[in-house]
Formats: sequence, structure tokens, C-alpha cells
Amino acid sequence: MCGIVGYVGQKDAVPLLMDGLKRLEYRGYDSAGIAVHTAGDMATRICVGRLSELEDSLEKRPLQGRPGIGHTRWATHGEPSEKNSHPHLDGSGRIAVVHNGIIENYQDLRNELEAAGHTFLSDTDTEVIPHLIEQELAGGAEDFEAALLRALRRARGAYALGILFKDDPDTVYAARLGSPLIVGLGQNENYIASDVPAILKHIRQVIYLNDGEIAVLKQDQVLVKDLDGRAVHHEPKTVDMAPEATERAGFETFMLKEMHEQPRVLRSLLEKHVSGHARVQLPEVGFSEDYFQILRRIMIVSCGTAYHAAMYGKFLMEHLTGLAVETDLGSEFRYRSPRIERDTLFIAVSQSGETADTLASLRLARLKKCKVLSICNVPGSSLVRDSDSVMFTDAGPEIGVASTKAYTAQLMAFALLSIHIGRARDEITEEQEKELVAALEGIPDAIHYMLERADHIRAIADKHHDGPSALYLGRRFNYPTALEGALKNKEISYQHAEGYAAGEMKHGPIALINEYLPVVCICTRTEDEVYDKMISNMKEVEARHGRIIAIATDGDKQVASIAEDIIYVPETREEFSPLINVVALQLLAYYAAHARGTDIDKPRNLAKSVTVE
Ligand code: G6P
Repeated sequence: MCGIVGYVGQKDAVPLLMDGLKRLEYRGYDSAGIAVHTAGDMATRICVGRLSELEDSLEKRPLQGRPGIGHTRWATHGEPSEKNSHPHLDGSGRIAVVHNGIIENYQDLRNELEAAGHTFLSDTDTEVIPHLIEQELAGGAEDFEAALLRALRRARGAYALGILFKDDPDTVYAARLGSPLIVGLGQNENYIASDVPAILKHIRQVIYLNDGEIAVLKQDQVLVKDLDGRAVHHEPKTVDMAPEATERAGFETFMLKEMHEQPRVLRSLLEKHVSGHARVQLPEVGFSEDYFQILRRIMIVSCGTAYHAAMYGKFLMEHLTGLAVETDLGSEFRYRSPRIERDTLFIAVSQSGETADTLASLRLARLKKCKVLSICNVPGSSLVRDSDSVMFTDAGPEIGVASTKAYTAQLMAFALLSIHIGRARDEITEEQEKELVAALEGIPDAIHYMLERADHIRAIADKHHDGPSALYLGRRFNYPTALEGALKNKEISYQHAEGYAAGEMKHGPIALINEYLPVVCICTRTEDEVYDKMISNMKEVEARHGRIIAIATDGDKQVASIAEDIIYVPETREEFSPLINVVALQLLAYYAAHARGTDIDKPRNLAKSVTVE
């Protein structure tokens, strides 16, 4: 969703802002803009569409200046258009504001400001902010900062703001409530940004602003205050991320690079959490074995791909820990009447740690006083800061909008957590733990093998990509894999795709099957009747001339005799097969998107980090 960057220092802000905005492109956007101080004045430039449009306009009409703020907008209030692009100005043109979030009481504020004579030019909620500051300045606020604080105390909802004030050409103002914003500390220069990768080239130290704080940035000083104007001390944090982590490193897309990083990411998660004696240890989680013994229930909440990881986590935890585990979508959880009791462990799963619905659910769980554990990829994110405990997925920055390495890392985190809790509760023996860990240790190589089979998968994608729709079927641990495979496909190739529990096929999707419909069947070997049931489901598809693409265990002749196309995967325990199977589906979606010519890293309408509800 919207991205913000800001710069104060001696350099020309324009190229720095443009570079930062490019690094925020992955968040999803449909228009962009910048504002900079120029000699004695303030200039803005905006574009609808991609940043390249803004670059073209800057080439035709060059602009220089400092300090400055920039924005990529993902439309919520008002269509993507010039008038709705940020920065938004007050009536006098002296205050420029970029915003991520939603000002929920904007209509009341706008009515009030219009009645007081303010004229609005856009359909956005954001535009009330500069007008409100202008109103407070006119109404006697002693200086700009005081006017800003007064205005913010009246705004409800969520915001990350970057603000320039024409009469104060040495300062960038920032504010945060519910939407991500960091301050980057450089050498005689300072930055604001929606996330660290946007400014990683320039800084090693950051301040993670808290909700209800403003920052006043000059080139040699950053002051943080609360909304009552009281100074707040932040100890800067050192960023532990290599600048190369945010580059494509020779791959044609970030998504391809990130799929290839999966073996390394999973290997290092295993190294971090498995001791020499094949025992799973989770010191960073910090809950005692006693706590896991008395635990009665787990509730997992997340959105999007992370929700599929949560479903896998539920199946695996029920299987290995004997606990009752429930899952819900962040957007549903808070609007039903969930029974959350103190003896429930609440687990929030999120790559970004900024997803608004997941965060709101977590806060609800905290109100009910249950312990909160997050499985998260981004240190310093809101989710991490609001949790009692965190299990980091350590996948490094994920830039491709469609999640890949973060997903398999979430599955691995659930595998490790389930084994750990299972042992603590005596549901699994030491011997079983060793067997499970040995199986997990084979996963990175198996994924590497899948990545080497990319050409074969590409040929299958090339053959099936042009139909209007595809169906994905799986059972038990691979039911979430089917959902995730379908999600990957629709996200990046725009082919309609539906994931289904294979046993449910007869209750609806079977009506869709004909000689044109690709049906992706996940049928890797199991030790019980689930495999036979899956074979029966494939037979039902075959009988209706559906075009079966099977994911099967190496050498499985039975599946090969039914499927039109087959992707073999290395054998592993059924519980862990989703970690390998999903890589086949990621590649299938990737090459379908490739064949359909979509913008794989930045699919239309999607945002990487969904910071509004
Ligand atoms: C967006 C992204 C998805 C992601 C979901 C949840 O929809 O495009 O890739 O799975 O948000 O994000 P989170 O950061 O909470 O995992």
C-alpha cells in the first residue's frame, strides 16, 4: 500500500526520493508524487500510473531541491487520478502532506473546514490534514509544530505522514499512528520511510516510531515527541540487513530470486533452531515447557498467504501437540464473537508485521489477556513490537508481491514450533523428534531439486496458461497447499484459480470440469488412505475429461497413468510435503504469469503490505 519517503540533508532530494519510491514500488501503487523545497518556494510533481511517468516528467522539466517528501499511492478514497495523488496541499499552498492510512473522521473534519471557508480539490481523506494544520495555524497555534500536534489530536484512524512546511525549509515533519514509518539516521542527513529497504543504501541506524509520535527531522538532528509535545527518547537500532538483500542479483524478477533463496532460508532456520542432538530449541520464543504443558488452546490469525501457513500450522499442531487449534482470517476474527480465554496462546502470522487486520486481531487478543506469539519476517514491525514473543522467519526482505520464501519459512516455523510443543507436552518421544528433525533437514535439498526442474514445470505452464480458469485440489496437509497454489496463480497470472479440499469437489467444483479445465492435483504419497482418496478424486476428474496436472512423489506410476502432466517431487514425510509441493506450484504460477506477460513482481491492484482494513 502507500509508500512514503522523505529526505533532509545537503544533497538534491529529487533523485533520492525517486530511488526510495522505486524501492517501495513493491508495496503496490497506482499514482505517485513528490514535493521539495526549492529556493524560497515549494514545488510538487505528480503522476498517475507507474513511477516511470514521473521520471519522464522530471526529465522534461527538471526539478532540484531539498528537503523533500515522496509518495506512492494505493487508492482508497478517490480513484487514481492527478487530483487525488499525493502530496496534498493546504489552501495557501504552504503545507504539503503525504499520507499512508485512512483518516476515518475525514468527512466530519472536511464538513467543518468547508464551513470555515476551506476549498478541497481532491476526493481523498488525506487532504483534511494540511487544511486542518492551516486552520490551527490561523487559529493561534504558536508555531508549525504546535499546529501539527493540534491537528493530529483531532484526526482519528491511521496515518503515517510526511510533511513539508514552506516557511521552514530545513525540516521534514513526520507522524505515525497505526501505519508504518521509520526514521533513518545518516551522516549529516536523515530520512523517513515506510520501511527499511527504501533507504537501506544510505543508513545503518533507524528509529522505529511508535504510534502517537511525531518526528522533527533536520539534517543534524531528529527530535521525537508524543502528541502532547513531550520529548520521547528512542535508542537508535542498528539495521542488520545487507544492502544487496534488496537487489535482484541478476534474476529477471524478485519473485524468481526469492523462490531460489528458499533452500538457504530454510537451512538457516534449521541451523538456528536445531541443536547438535536433533532437539528443537526455540530460545527466542521464550515460553517455558511448563507453559506449553498447561496450555489448552491455540488460536492463529493471519491474512492472505500467511493464512494458508496458519491452516498448515493448525493441521500440524493438532497432529503433533494434541492441542485444540483454531484459525481465522484477521478480517473476520474481530467482527465475530471469538471465545478468547487467558489460557489460549494467540499466534499472529505475518510476513510484513504491518497487516492492519492481523494487527487489530492481535490487539483484541491482548485485551483478553492471552499470550501473543508472532511469526514474522520484519524486525521492528508493529506486530513484533506488540507481541509477548516472536519467532522470526529470517527470510530477508521479500520484495515480490506474491509471497514465496516467507511462506515456506512460515511453514518451517510451524514445523519447528509443533515439534517443540509436542515434545514439551510429551505427545512425541525423543526418538520421534529425531525422525521429524531428520525429515526437515532434507527439505532444503528437496526444494533445490524442485528449482532445478523449473524447465519442465515451465513447459507445463506454457501448455495450460491460456484457459480462463484452473482448479487446485489437495487433502489434509496439502489442502492449504492447494489454496496457496491457486492464490499464487491468480495473484500473478490473473488466471482465475480456485483451491479446494479434494473431498469437497463433488459438492460444487465438479460441475466446472470439462476437457478444457486444468486441474492441479496434489497427490504425493501418504501412509494411509488419504493417498487412495486423492487417486479416486483424480479418477473422477479424468472421467469428466479434466486436464490433470499432478504433483506426485518421484517414480509414482499410478498417478502418471491418470495425469496428463506430472511434476515429480522428492519423497518426504507427508507432514512436511507442503514445503516441497508448494515450490512446484510457485513455479507453475510463475511461468503461467510469464507466458501471460504480466508484471510478476507488481501485479495489478495488489499491495505487498496491506496497512488499511
Ligand atoms: C497482501 C500480500 C500477500 C500477503 C498478505 C498478508 O495481500 O500481497 O502476499 O500474504 O498481504 O501479508 P502479511 O505481511 O501479513 O503476511
